[in-house]
Amino acid sequence: MPNEGSDYTLKDRYLDLVRDSIMGLIHPGQYRPLLRKPAWYRPLAGLLKRVDLELVRPAHFDVARRLEGKDWPVNAESMLSRQRLDNIRFCLESVLRDNVPGDIIEAGTWLGGAAIFMRAVLQAHDIKNRSVWVADSFGGLPPADTVKYPQDTGDTHSTFLDLIAPFEAVQENFRKYGLLDSQVKFLPGWFSETLEQAPIDRLAVARLDGDMYGSTIESLNALYPKLSAGGYCIIDDYNLSGARQATDDYRAAQGISESLVKIDWTGVYWRKER
Ligand SMILES: C[S@@+](CC[C@H](N)C(=O)[O-])C[C@H]1O[C@@H](n2cnc3c(N)ncnc32)[C@H](O)[C@@H]1O
Repeated sequence: MPNEGSDYTLKDRYLDLVRDSIMGLIHPGQYRPLLRKPAWYRPLAGLLKRVDLELVRPAHFDVARRLEGKDWPVNAESMLSRQRLDNIRFCLESVLRDNVPGDIIEAGTWLGGAAIFMRAVLQAHDIKNRSVWVADSFGGLPPADTVKYPQDTGDTHSTFLDLIAPFEAVQENFRKYGLLDSQVKFLPGWFSETLEQAPIDRLAVARLDGDMYGSTIESLNALYPKLSAGGYCIIDDYNLSGARQATDDYRAAQGISESLVKIDWTGVYWRKER
């Protein structure tokens, strides 16, 4: 909640406002669209549309669950908890302070909120020589490739319609915050096809939010070698078995001994030492 102390600067106020807005805390949605229309509703839908009506469900906003990032928010650009968004600011300000070279990336962005917040942090610090890369299929998660990644057997993320965020909607979200500019670079497509080839020289912060084993290991394989010493690797979904297993496998294979730091009930990060 707002801090009224004298060390609570205009920069803090701006970043807290952007954070709380992308979390949907300021104008929480009251109604949730029906992504899967029940069969009985389909014949009615056309009729209702003609009189500009549609069937929605009450959203039942629960501020405590929203703060913890444990819900499917309605009127939000990010599903992250406040602690995970504050962690983004912490990591970015740390690399800026320590002059750790490189850009910032979020792999798995949904409606773009966390990446919008990254761009806001750069803007608040008047940083002009770093970009925010935004990687996503902009069409949801891939079906589990269990031949390549048996660890994803039984994963159903690809069926979640709520996780589909079209490219145009994400761009529009950046634009709404006044943060769509040449320092934001999009990588549309599957991680397996975009991340290795992306024209990224170096990274200072890599935030991986792909939920599944395959998506997380592909992000780590492609991006971690580009992370500068002193940079941060953030894993959003360490409570999900796929993402946790991929993180543990990659760290073991690469001999990464830097300790994992817990952000909240699911997010973790570590700072690359060498
Ligand atoms: C949980 S959401 C990300 C949440 C987001 N970071 C936020 O702030 O709310 C996961 C995202 O990862 C994307 N994704 C997962 N695996 C992917 C893959 N292999 N290739 C491309 N996009 C992927 C999905 O499309 C989805 O938008």
